[in-house]
This record gives sequence, structure tokens and C-alpha cells, in this order.
Amino acid sequence: MSGLDLRGAVAVVTGASSGIGWATADALARRGAKVVVAARREERLVELAGAIERRRGTALPVPCDVSRPDQVEALRDRVLATFGRCDVLVNNAGIPGGGAFADLSMAQVERVIAVNYVAVLACTHAFLAPMLRGGRGHIVNVASLAGRFAVPGSSVYSSTKHAVVAFSESLHYEVAPRGVRVTSVNPGFVSTEGFPHRRGGGILPVLPPRRVAEVIVRVIERGTAPEVSVPRWPASLQIVRLLAPPLYRFGFRRAHARGLVPTTRGVGASTFEDEGDS
Ligand SMILES: NC(=O)c1ccc[n+]([C@@H]2O[C@H](COP(=O)([O-])OP(=O)(O)OC[C@H]3O[C@@H](n4cnc5c(N)ncnc54)[C@H](OP(=O)(O)O)[C@@H]3O)[C@@H](O)[C@H]2O)c1
Repeated sequence: MSGLDLRGAVAVVTGASSGIGWATADALARRGAKVVVAARREERLVELAGAIERRRGTALPVPCDVSRPDQVEALRDRVLATFGRCDVLVNNAGIPGGGAFADLSMAQVERVIAVNYVAVLACTHAFLAPMLRGGRGHIVNVASLAGRFAVPGSSVYSSTKHAVVAFSESLHYEVAPRGVRVTSVNPGFVSTEGFPHRRGGGILPVLPPRRVAEVIVRVIERGTAPEVSVPRWPASLQIVRLLAPPLYRFGFRRAHARGLVPTTRGVGASTFEDEGDS
């Protein structure tokens, strides 16, 4: 199946105020898409939209907290009122949720689930109907390699990302016959504000956000679905996990004991300060 021509396509990117979302909105605009950039920090969105428009692109900044259903519906209404359709939705907004499970409050757990998982369902639900009506579209969900591999110290984050991967695959089979593709893009370690990865990423390289953005653009233009990892090779380790579970667990334990599989422990602390529910 060939993918979408991004020239003139309308693309909504959540979590576009920094990191992977910012780089993705910028990359989509460079390919000729009209981008709607959504997140909570409006000043960042205005800055990004301004940079895109100075290059003669089209960008619409829309402040939106994706964990608020009313704001997600308002985002959908604004996009349809302005452009009449939505061709691409990149569900990228996300927060870390690292730390020992026993140390997290249930308010913290629920916040990570609300932003990383429930909001993906809410945004997809809002934009899927117009895509199905138009008979075309591509929904890209930025999940994680933590959505394929359960890493110690990130049980909540990892489980939300597993859910996003499963949701993407299931929904893809459901709606692909009606012209809409769904893909989970699963990055490894990417250096961003929310996920600083100051030291190396163990057996994985630490990538710049631009690298993930390039993959997202390719996924849409080629119509790749339902899943892509960035980098690609770690996904193949799942074969070992399926065919030789004891070998996988032995290798995983050794790698973890030697610090080769970094955890997201502690990364999440600042997340909850912002939310006021720590
Ligand atoms: N960096 C990594 O190593 C890595 C690896 C795998 C997957 N990922 C995933 O990649 C995605 C992007 O993360 P990033 O690494 O680019 O981190 P980031 O730079 O911290 O970006 C996170 C974005 O999400 C937005 N956001 C957070 N809560 C939101 C909410 N309630 N409503 C709307 N927007 C919200 C933030 O904007 P505001 O604060 O302005 O709302 C920000 O734009 C996340 O889903 C993350 O789980 C990251």
C-alpha cells in the first residue's frame, strides 16, 4: 500500500511544544503539510508556528491538555472549522512515569495512564470519525520500546506504552480496509526535556528527536503499519523472548545487572510537580 502525499495534507501533532513532537511538526511542515500544533504551553506553540510560517508553511497553534476530553473535542472542532478535514494525527504527547511502583502514589499512576494511554484513545476517537468519512488518514501513536520490553523501574510507563502498541495494532486491522492506517512508532532513547537521558542509553544509542521525526514522516509517506521501532534492531530481540524465554530473561538480568539496560527511575519526579498532585 502506498502512503499519503504530505503536500497540502492536514496534520495534527500533540505534544508539539518540545522534543519529538516539535521535531515531527517541523518535519511534516517541511514536507508541505499544514500542521496543527497542540500542547499545553501556548508560547512554545506560537514560537514553532511562527518559525514554520516564516518558511512560508502553514501552522496553527492550539493549546490543548490531551487529558481533558473537552479540550480534545475543542481541538478537533477547531481543526475541522479551519481546514475542513484531518489527514494525519500524531499522538505524541506523553510524560515519564519512572520510579519504583511502591513509591508512586495512585494519583501519580493515574496521571501517567491518563496522559500516555487514555488521551491517545480520546484523540484517536475525536479524529477517527472525520478520517473514516473522508476514506483516508494515518494515525501515528508515539509509543516506546518500553511498549515491547518491560524494563525495571518503569512498570507504569511501560504498561501504558504496551497498551498503546496493542491499541494501534488492533485498530489498524479494524480501520485499514476503510482507508485509515494506524501505526505505533516505538523509539528507544531520545534526548528531550521530559526524558533527558544525560548519560548513555546502555546498549541503545541516545538519538536526537529529529531521527524519530524522520521515521514518522517516512511511515506516513510509505503507509507503514502497524508498528515500527527506532532503531529497528531491538524489536528483533522479541524473537528470543518468544522462542527461548529463559535465555531472554538470563540475558536481560545480566544486562541489567551490568547497567546495560538503563531504567527510567527518577525521571518522572518533575512531571508530578507540574501537575500539582505529588
Ligand atoms: N525521549 C525518549 O527517550 C522517548 C522514548 C520513547 C518514547 N517517547 C515518547 O515520545 C513522546 C514525546 O516525548 P519527548 O521525549 O519528546 O518528551 P518531551 O520533550 O518532554 O515532550 C513531551 C510533550 O508532551 C506534551 N504534553 C505532556 N503532557 C501533556 C498534556 N497533558 N496535554 C498535552 N500535551 C502534553 C508536552 O507539552 P506541554 O508540557 O506544553 O503540554 C511536550 O510537548 C512521549 O509520548 C514519550 O513517551 C520518548
